[in-house]
Amino acid sequence: MQLPFAESYKIKMVEPLRRSTREEREIWMKEARYNLFNLSSDKVFIDLLTDSGTGAMSDRQWSAMMIGDESYAGASSYFRLKNAISDLLGFEYFLPTHQGRAAENVLFSVLVKEGDFVPGNSHFDTTKGHIEFRRAKAVDCTINEAFDVTLYHPFKGNVDLNKLEECLNAHPREKIPFIILTVTCNTSGGQPVSMKNMREVKELGNKYGIPVVFDAARFAENAYFIKTREEGYKDKTIREIVKEMFSYADCMTMSAKKDAIVNMGGFIGMRSQEIFRQASVFNIMFEGYLTYGGMSGRDMNALAEGLYEGTEFDYLQTRIGQVAYLGERLKSFGIQSQEPFGGHAIFVDAVHFLPKVPRAEYVAQTLGVELFIEAGVRAVEIGTLLADRDPITRMDRYPELEFLRLAIPRRVYTNNHMDYTAVALANVFERRDKITRGFRILHEAPIMRHFTVELERA
Ligand code: F0G
Repeated sequence: MQLPFAESYKIKMVEPLRRSTREEREIWMKEARYNLFNLSSDKVFIDLLTDSGTGAMSDRQWSAMMIGDESYAGASSYFRLKNAISDLLGFEYFLPTHQGRAAENVLFSVLVKEGDFVPGNSHFDTTKGHIEFRRAKAVDCTINEAFDVTLYHPFKGNVDLNKLEECLNAHPREKIPFIILTVTCNTSGGQPVSMKNMREVKELGNKYGIPVVFDAARFAENAYFIKTREEGYKDKTIREIVKEMFSYADCMTMSAKKDAIVNMGGFIGMRSQEIFRQASVFNIMFEGYLTYGGMSGRDMNALAEGLYEGTEFDYLQTRIGQVAYLGERLKSFGIQSQEPFGGHAIFVDAVHFLPKVPRAEYVAQTLGVELFIEAGVRAVEIGTLLADRDPITRMDRYPELEFLRLAIPRRVYTNNHMDYTAVALANVFERRDKITRGFRILHEAPIMRHFTVELERA
């Protein structure tokens, strides 16, 4: 018999989970103004809100923490991280930051000016937020195939080169500070970008004299998809693939809370000494001194170790295999998600799931509330609330896809938790005809409203 698949690690420490009743959950949801971010985590049985900072560190990472060097300047932990970034990703210059959006804040303070255009593949919300905050515009050049959830395309994170070139032609060179590639593309469903597409985007950038920045939060998961789906890469190691990927980037921002499997941390990778010098000023102002920038020495040690563990094939196969397991279970119940399944999460098509709820009443949010009340599983809306209002017209922006995202923390849950989640959603699916109304906004922030929005039933 062929041996079945099994996880590439075993569990050394556990954390108890609390079960609750439907009655309790109904009250909690109302008290939280139907915003899942407002729930205290002890009320959540399975937490699939995010895969960011929620992973389980390894024994090697915890032991690296114990020997962290907490010197203000020139800590050995800084050099350990610097060496890991140079060794694995190939960037000569780097700045530590406390998380991904901080890296965006520092780098964009140097690069983005009012009136600029920043083309890319479905920018993540904090990336877009940092662009729009500077009164510049994020231009989405993702391939159209990404927006058809049932259509198979191995690289739904790809940039449409025609759309990109159109953007590069439409504006003067000095108005386009860089092209940004998010690998994997979170917004389109944790979808990878092919190596070919990265190469072509870089070539186009070179032709127009525009640098390429990677938003690299899930670079290792992207590399796994290249290895398993792209011709010519199956015999290469993840680390060889990662090296080639970054050879097409001039700079990178990293939220280390994802593929580096730490609970907090981030950094900027750069090739240009000039950009490094300019970014250093902002790093000192916003984050901290150049050799810690918002992280403790122990955090930098764990991050350095996490970069190595996160680029091991066996780990990635276990991790991405678990995400696909949940996707297949949901599919067997007739629930439609973005396919092929992404690297870090299953993105359920909420409009397909709840066709009777009007788009103006926040369909994916409605589904998220129903799932929590059903079973204590917390997911997150990647839909109209997240898409925010148009900065000029202040009207709701309806994204092409209205998703409920089930993000899987790394090395945390077992496949029994995936089964529980799938059945919970299947139970909601069974009563979907009775769900006809969604929510109205009571209060919202002017930017990134989804974190703090307060809702009432419509
Ligand atoms: N870029 C991408 C692609 C992300 O997914 C995130 C965060 C960031 C940048 C910002 O990084 O949180 O460390 O400041 N994504 C989380 C998520 C929040 O749930 O998808 P951060």
